[in-house]
Amino acid sequence: MKLVALVFSLCTIIISCHGSLELEHGLSFSIFPLRLKSGLGGHYIPETSCSSWRLGVEAHNIIEWTSIPQECVDYVGNYLLGKQYREDSKAVTEEAYKYAQSLNLVGDGKDIWVFDIDETSLSNLPYYAQHGFGVEKYNATAFNEWVDLGTAPPLPESLKLYRRLLRLGFNIVFLTGRPDSQKDITLKNLKNVGFTTFHTLIVKESAEYNGKTALTYKSSERKKLEEKGYRIVGNIGDQWSDILGTNTRNRTFKLPDPMYYIS
Ligand SMILES: *[C@@H]1O[C@H](CO)[C@@H](O)[C@H](O)[C@H]1NC(C)=O
Ligand SMILES: *[C@@H]1O[C@H](CO)[C@@H](O)[C@H](O)[C@H]1NC(C)=O
Ligand SMILES: [Mg+2]
Repeated sequence: MKLVALVFSLCTIIISCHGSLELEHGLSFSIFPLRLKSGLGGHYIPETSCSSWRLGVEAHNIIEWTSIPQECVDYVGNYLLGKQYREDSKAVTEEAYKYAQSLNLVGDGKDIWVFDIDETSLSNLPYYAQHGFGVEKYNATAFNEWVDLGTAPPLPESLKLYRRLLRLGFNIVFLTGRPDSQKDITLKNLKNVGFTTFHTLIVKESAEYNGKTALTYKSSERKKLEEKGYRIVGNIGDQWSDILGTNTRNRTFKLPDPMYYIS
């Protein structure tokens, strides 16, 4: 009761400080001074619109975007380098683990969990931190130079999920849009950072998939796996093109990625 009274008087103070409370969508609230785009005193918080942009991206309402909004560089940088990126990733991988634990695996080695690589298993944050967190136009030459170093760190929550899935008896398949020319360095990079045991690493063979979207390529490779008798029970990636398409199978998990969009 006391709390309610306190909240109410606080609201009254805020309302009286601020005058009327018109929300962005035209509604007036006389009790709860909720203003999504304002601080307590009604002042504008510029970052709020960047968090809306990020939500739009993660929910796949904003699609086919080529770079992050200029005004969101600081926001995205803070998000990625601060705690929230890790927390959001963890929320995804914990759900994935709960789901994995709930299953009774057949135990014939055919239960597959598909992992994407970039921004799912290996992080390119060291590169993107030097290139405006996705505000700069994609430079294939520079990016490939970074990949070829083979020094990408693992995403910690994904590595943890990977280890837990192995213990549960899953076979791991890495399915990446990286080209065949980067297969060796990718294998080396994966092993160096702890992804030591897996069934296969599937790369985008240029002859077969030249000019095809990631969505088409990944769907087709998942289909091949299923035709060989494997059961794709889980699938995790940072792009919607990792988890949409065909043969996506039983459950998919979307990790955050506000840096780039791949169709
Ligand atoms: C792309 O990266 C390469 C290698 O770092 C650099 O030489 C080139 O100038 C860059 N291109 C653009 C358009 O920035
Ligand atoms: C996955 O989906 C297939 C096809 O719908 C179904 O037969 C199978 O039982 C599901 N497996 C799990 C582990 O849920
Ligand atoms: Mg990726």
